[in-house]
Amino acid sequence: MIDLRSDTVTKPTPAMREFMIRAEVGDDVFAEDPTVNRLQAMISEMLGKESALFVPSGTQGNQICINTHTHPGQEVICDYNAHIFNYESGAPGMLSGVQLHPLIGHYGHPTVGQISEVVRPPDDHYPQTGLICLENTHNRAGGTIFPFEEIKKISKFAKTHHLPLHLDGALLWNASIATGISLSEYAAHFDSVSLCFSKGLGAPIGSIIAGTQSFIQRAHAYRKAYGGGMRQVGFIAAACLFAVENHFERLSDDHRNARQLAEYLNDVTGFSVDMESVQTNIVIADVSGTGQKAEEIVQKLKNEGILTIPFSSKRIRFVTHLEITHQDILACKDILNRLF
Ligand SMILES: Cc1ncc(COP(=O)(O)O)c(C=O)c1O
Repeated sequence: MIDLRSDTVTKPTPAMREFMIRAEVGDDVFAEDPTVNRLQAMISEMLGKESALFVPSGTQGNQICINTHTHPGQEVICDYNAHIFNYESGAPGMLSGVQLHPLIGHYGHPTVGQISEVVRPPDDHYPQTGLICLENTHNRAGGTIFPFEEIKKISKFAKTHHLPLHLDGALLWNASIATGISLSEYAAHFDSVSLCFSKGLGAPIGSIIAGTQSFIQRAHAYRKAYGGGMRQVGFIAAACLFAVENHFERLSDDHRNARQLAEYLNDVTGFSVDMESVQTNIVIADVSGTGQKAEEIVQKLKNEGILTIPFSSKRIRFVTHLEITHQDILACKDILNRLF
């Protein structure tokens, strides 16, 4: 099977497993796990933040940050296709008592102009704006990169209006490799950042949040409340350390493979790909020109050994990752040409 459903499907490599087995561990609820402490220190430094906290998932990381920044009744500005709006089970309302104010951004990225128009005036009729959340790269928009100049403008605006700014950076690794802008250059514009190790980097589990020391101290209490306090979790943190040290730079291979796949898909009769949206490791193909539903095509591809995800009735998502080789992309081309 050529599994292009998601970059979360990768399994730990033999070398990663070996590294995990040899991890030094301790009780992380007592902050005594040396491998977790090493990972947190490494990420704080890479992001240029005072402190970082290991968490089980990207969803939990985002939700802890939302709760730490806001008060019940407040509003969080985000993009309409944001992960926090679409794929986190309504957690902002459920766990933090806040509502989201979604904007329709360009490729998932609202502008400072759009944001400034929806910040609420200080009037008791309105919910008060408590947080702005950006996503980079943007998953649902197809792995698109947030324009750096716009991030700077939004950050300046947020500071002027005393609004905290959170970055859902589950896929920030991809943005950094694609642009050459370092993680710390991105993070400098945000009060908090969440990162995932279990996507393109290929770790089996694990995410992290970072911010000031006092922010992370407060976030620590929410991690406990959400059931995210883990014990000898250094075995997992070791996989994350290994992933950053060995699989970060190679993300450019995934980006190259995605670009090539997008070009092949664009040549298939009835398929079309917006090449401007192909910026990292995600390709979304519109298949309406085939006259068939995305689900039908996904099934046909599956019968030929290619796994994908229908993104709507007319769109299919393809994601490249650690286990997808250049040969796999060439095999996809052959199969697509034969089928369509
Ligand atoms: C942008 C973004 N944020 C958050 C998450 C949530 O991560 P998790 O699946 O670890 O909860 C994902 C997962 O794909 C994501 O793509």
